Amino acid sequence: MKIVLGVGGGIAAYKSALLLRLFTEAGHDVRVIPTRASLNFVGAATWEALSHHPVSHDVFDAVDEVQHVRVGQEADLVVIAPATADLMARIAAGRADDLLTSTVLATRAPVVLAPAMHTEMWENPATRANVETLRGRGIAVIEPAVGRLTGTDTGAGRLPDPEAIRDAALAAASEDLDPEPGEGSAAADGTGAPLADRNTPWTGRSVVVTLGGTREPLDPVRYLGNRSSGKQGLAFARALAEQGAEVTVVAGAVEIPLDESLRTLRIGTARELEETLERLVRKERPDAIVMAAAVADFRPARTEASKIKKRDGEDAPQIVLERNPDVIAGLAEARGEGRSPLLVAFAAETGDEHGSVLEYAESKLRRKRVDALCVNEVGLAKGFGADENELTVLFADGADPVHASGPKDEVARAAVTALGRLVSADGAPAPLS
Ligand code: CTP
Repeated sequence: MKIVLGVGGGIAAYKSALLLRLFTEAGHDVRVIPTRASLNFVGAATWEALSHHPVSHDVFDAVDEVQHVRVGQEADLVVIAPATADLMARIAAGRADDLLTSTVLATRAPVVLAPAMHTEMWENPATRANVETLRGRGIAVIEPAVGRLTGTDTGAGRLPDPEAIRDAALAAASEDLDPEPGEGSAAADGTGAPLADRNTPWTGRSVVVTLGGTREPLDPVRYLGNRSSGKQGLAFARALAEQGAEVTVVAGAVEIPLDESLRTLRIGTARELEETLERLVRKERPDAIVMAAAVADFRPARTEASKIKKRDGEDAPQIVLERNPDVIAGLAEARGEGRSPLLVAFAAETGDEHGSVLEYAESKLRRKRVDALCVNEVGLAKGFGADENELTVLFADGADPVHASGPKDEVARAAVTALGRLVSADGAPAPLS
């Protein structure tokens, strides 16, 4: 893949040398475009030696090769690390006053920005507005890490580790390049036999199925996760594909291999899941989102940039948590009064002295303003990781709940068939009855 690595004028520029190495060692062809200011931190000779390409920052270098548009046109991916507040402002304004900004303007490739700056600059309303603008145009802006900044201050604004930037950048590229979008009607059982029934309400509908658990990092090696296996979500994805839907799987951490025939995008944290779904809604307008992922409600308020160490005589660290977005409730709010995309949530409930499983599920259905909610009763022996399942589908339109029990794939088939009622013949969600 041809990658443009843009380098902004911040002290974190040196970390981009490692990022460049990660890309080149994986076989990518990388052109580095530093800004003039960044050359105060890392000189052109370093970039030329590491990338094996000449380096310039000025649109008036090599004018005969029309570099200012050609480099961007040829790129498969543009990654900018560090992206300073000033550089993001220039990109948000559509400026093309140096080789890097004109490359961004001239490219159709995915663009990924890894910001690094002082916390005050990151939190400044001007920067926040620029980040919103950039994200609104489909540019991926990675959240900066929290940790030690230049000088003595600490806070949000640290450049994420090169590995994290690489992963986010390659994920953005693979998403845009639409890797192996799945066979749609191909058998999910690997036999190659067509299973898709072409005469169901799901036929030809694009459906996003999220599955697996999110992982919220504490430091580069540890995370807060959950026991979601991904089995139920995969059973739904397969059942939808069998019934003719074009399925995109958005997968967090899973315990099972996923189907190669299904287009699959990977996410780590709840916020990555949110970003990926928002981008899919914006770019592909799916007909339905089936939210089987187990999303962490809380994340560590602080992600350490280096491994947390135990030290003699020191107390065990306290982990402070903060709220994650409620992803499906956010999607429901964003779609407003319409019912596109159709939203299906999941819940695993135990019931307690304050309410039964179905009472809790009913209130969750209303609270999240989704069209249907599939609820499992979980206990120590039921639910997570098990192959057998018991599931009730509740509908926001007041229709009678549908109950199914048995192996997870049969339960998923029954639920998908029941949910088909919500999809009208022309693909728009059926009107509320
Ligand atoms: N969900 C979500 N974002 C979150 C948490 C949950 O989108 N931050 C989605 C899940 O994927 C699922 C549904 O909401 O489809 C219900 O998840 P659940 O964890 O049961 O909901 P919570 O709101 O976290 O409820 P509780 O307080 O019972 O944990």
